[in-house]
Amino acid sequence: MKKLFSFINKTKRLKTKSKSWSYLIDIVEISRFLLIGIFSTLINFLFFIISIFLFSAGLIQAVITGYLFGFISSFYFGRAWILSPRYKFKMTTFFKFVFSYFVGGLITLFVISIASSNFQLGNILSWFIGTAITALLNFTLLKLWVFRDRKKIADQRWGGLSKLLFLQILASNVISYINPAITHNLEKYYAIKKVFYLSTIEDISGDYLEFGVFEGSSFSHAIRCYLNLKEYMPPNNENEINFYGFDSFDGFGKLDSEDYHPFYEDEQFKTSLPFVKNRIEKCSKGTNFKLIKGFFEETLSVDPISYGIKKARIIFIDADTFSSSFYSFEFCKKLIREGTYLILDDFYSYKGSNTKGVAGAFAKFRSKYNFSFREVFSYGMGGKVFICSNIEDPKLLELR
Ligand SMILES: C[S@@+](CC[C@H](N)C(=O)[O-])C[C@H]1O[C@@H](n2cnc3c(N)ncnc32)[C@H](O)[C@@H]1O
Repeated sequence: MKKLFSFINKTKRLKTKSKSWSYLIDIVEISRFLLIGIFSTLINFLFFIISIFLFSAGLIQAVITGYLFGFISSFYFGRAWILSPRYKFKMTTFFKFVFSYFVGGLITLFVISIASSNFQLGNILSWFIGTAITALLNFTLLKLWVFRDRKKIADQRWGGLSKLLFLQILASNVISYINPAITHNLEKYYAIKKVFYLSTIEDISGDYLEFGVFEGSSFSHAIRCYLNLKEYMPPNNENEINFYGFDSFDGFGKLDSEDYHPFYEDEQFKTSLPFVKNRIEKCSKGTNFKLIKGFFEETLSVDPISYGIKKARIIFIDADTFSSSFYSFEFCKKLIREGTYLILDDFYSYKGSNTKGVAGAFAKFRSKYNFSFREVFSYGMGGKVFICSNIEDPKLLELR
C-alpha cells in the first residue's frame, strides 16, 4: 500500500513537472511564431518602401512585392524553426501554409485598396492597417490550422529542452560562427583571472612571469586582473608584484626540425618592443613591469636575480616550442615555490606529442627535478594550469 501511495505521488510530481514544461514550451512556441511574424513583417515593410521610393512602383505592385518577400522570409524561418524534420513535415502542411498566405495576401490587397482609395488614408497608413489585419489572421491560421498536429507529435517526445529546436539552432549558429581563436583567447583571459584569484586567496607572493608576450594582450590582461584584485590583498609589501615579460618580439628565430610546426612561423609573430611597451603602459597605472627583449637562449641563460626576480607567483609559458619552453622552465627552477601557478598554453600541440612542444618540455623538467605539480584546470583549445604542491628536491632548496 505504502509503495502504491509513493508511486501515485511520484506520478503526480512528474505530471506537475511535465505540465510546467508544457507551459514553458507553449510560451516558447508562441514567441517563436511571433518572432517569425515580426521579422517577416519588417522584411515586407522594407520591400514595400523600397518599391515605392526607389522604384516608384504603384501601391498594389509595392504591396505584392513586400508581401512576397515577407512570405519567403516566413517560409525560410518557418522551415528551420517550425517545419523541422522532427515534426514529420508533410506536403499537406506546406499547402496549408501557402494557402494561408494566399488568403492573407488577398485580404491585405483588399483592405489596403479600400483604405487608400475610399478613405484616402495614404500609402503607408493603409499598408499598416492591411498588414495588421493580415498578420493577425496569418498568426491564427498558422497556429490553429497549419501546425495544429505538430504539438501532438512534439509532446510524445521525452524531455522539455530537447523540444526547443529553434533555441538549439540559434545557439549552434552563434557558436559555429565564433572564431576559435577568440574562444581560446577569452578562455585564456579567464584562466589568468582565475589564477590571480586563487593565488590571492592563498596569499601567494612573488612575481608574474610571461614567456612569449607577442603584442602584450595576455600580459596587459594579467596587469588588469592584478589591479582589479589588488584591494583584496593583505596590505603588506609581500604582495606587491612585478610583471616580467620575455620575448624576441621578432618571432621564434631559427627552429630546429624537432620544433618545426606549420602554425609557428616568424611572420605571424613579428612586432616591435616600443609598440608593445606603449600598449602595456596605457593599462599599467604605475604597476612595475619590465619587458626583456631577446631570444631565450640568451636572455634566460642568466640567473633570474640579475633581473631582480626572486620568486614566482604565476608563470605563464606561451612560447609554443619545446626549446623555448624548456629554457623558460630551467630559468624558473629557483623561482617556483609551493603554491606557484603554471599556465601552459598549447599543451596538446604537435599532435598531442608527449616529447615535443610545451608538454614535452614540462615532462622533461619534471623528470629532471623533484617538484610535485597538480593539475588545477584546463582552458581553451588545450591550455592547462598546474600548481606546485610540493618541492622535495634538496638540490633545488639549496639553490635558494
Ligand atoms: C603565442 S605568442 C604569445 C602570445 C601572448 N602570450 C598573448 O597571449 O598575447 C608566442 C610568442 O613567443 C615568442 N617566442 C617563441 N620562442 C621564442 C624564443 N626562443 N625567444 C624569444 N621569443 C620567443 C614569439 O616571438 C611569440 O611572440
